[in-house]
Amino acid sequence: MTAIETENLRKRFRGVNAVDGVDLSVPEGAIFGFLGPNGAGKTTTIRLLLGLLRPNRGRIALFGENLKSRRTKALKSVGVAFETPAHYEHLTGRENLDITRRLLNLDKSEIDRVLETVELKYVENRLVRKYSLGMRHRLGLARALLGRPKLLIFDEPTNGLDPVGIREMREFIKTLPERTGATVFVSSHHLAEIEQMASHVAVINLGQIVFQGDMKELRGLHAPRLELACSDPGGAASLLSGSGKQTQTRGGRLVLELASADEAEREAAEINRHLVGAGFDIHHLAIAPWTLEELFLQLVGAKPTIRSDAA
Ligand SMILES: Nc1ncnc2c1ncn2[C@@H]1O[C@H](COP(=O)(O)OP(=O)(O)OP(=O)(O)O)[C@@H](O)[C@H]1O
Ligand SMILES: [Mg+2]
Repeated sequence: MTAIETENLRKRFRGVNAVDGVDLSVPEGAIFGFLGPNGAGKTTTIRLLLGLLRPNRGRIALFGENLKSRRTKALKSVGVAFETPAHYEHLTGRENLDITRRLLNLDKSEIDRVLETVELKYVENRLVRKYSLGMRHRLGLARALLGRPKLLIFDEPTNGLDPVGIREMREFIKTLPERTGATVFVSSHHLAEIEQMASHVAVINLGQIVFQGDMKELRGLHAPRLELACSDPGGAASLLSGSGKQTQTRGGRLVLELASADEAEREAAEINRHLVGAGFDIHHLAIAPWTLEELFLQLVGAKPTIRSDAA
């Protein structure tokens, strides 16, 4: 079963589509990274998924339950943490959790369970006012975990954290599906972060999904490049260009795009033979995959930067 399924979602603010034609399919058990630059539509999508905003068009189902017609049932299994966690400052961490616990009508032992999970037990009786940002984030996660949700939605859970906090949060999120059985949907504008924790990824830009698939598919979007260094780069470049292969020079090396990922090794060997046969001395030859950052920039750079209202 899919944890989240959306069809042709649209949300318009003052005549501008913040989210437009979004089809998401999040498999159960996945850590699904929802990646996009600032203003891409991540938070809007998440608010739609949680029923906090009503779409202008489209359909949402959580674990097969339609959010519109079966709202309570659909949202029953969802836990959420937003990027700026809102807590009662004048209450302790434990007291904050107790409010949600009572709302959800859960046993008191649930509080200890989630405090232990997020490692906040040692400050449970401290006022939230005195919490560090990292503690606040973790308290937000603890609240999301109350009631053992089947789906956890985190909007930029590492926002504002220092590198140590970011790593802790990432490592924590990574263990969640295994520890709790939940599906995790996590938004971020940090590609490296998503790369290190997600099994699946969707990239949103200007309100539209520009890529969706698993990490392997993302990496396979472009054939790798060949990087080579030789005795006469200029001569090699013109020889290669004569056989239809355009090269660029980067840091004294020639770089060219290979035709396909599957044939990369064969093609590299062929180019090598060609150059050696023509008398060039090759002293470096490497197949270089695109970094995810390059792929991401290509994905979000390929679109116009001004939103158009394509009603
Ligand atoms: N309540 C609102 N009223 C009007 N416009 C809004 C509203 N909420 C969001 N928008 C607009 O919708 C677009 C998408 O915003 P959204 O907050 O979903 O982006 P985001 O991907 O979460 O960005 P960030 O990475 O900065 O959090 C932006 O252009 C934003 O200005
Ligand atoms: Mg946002």
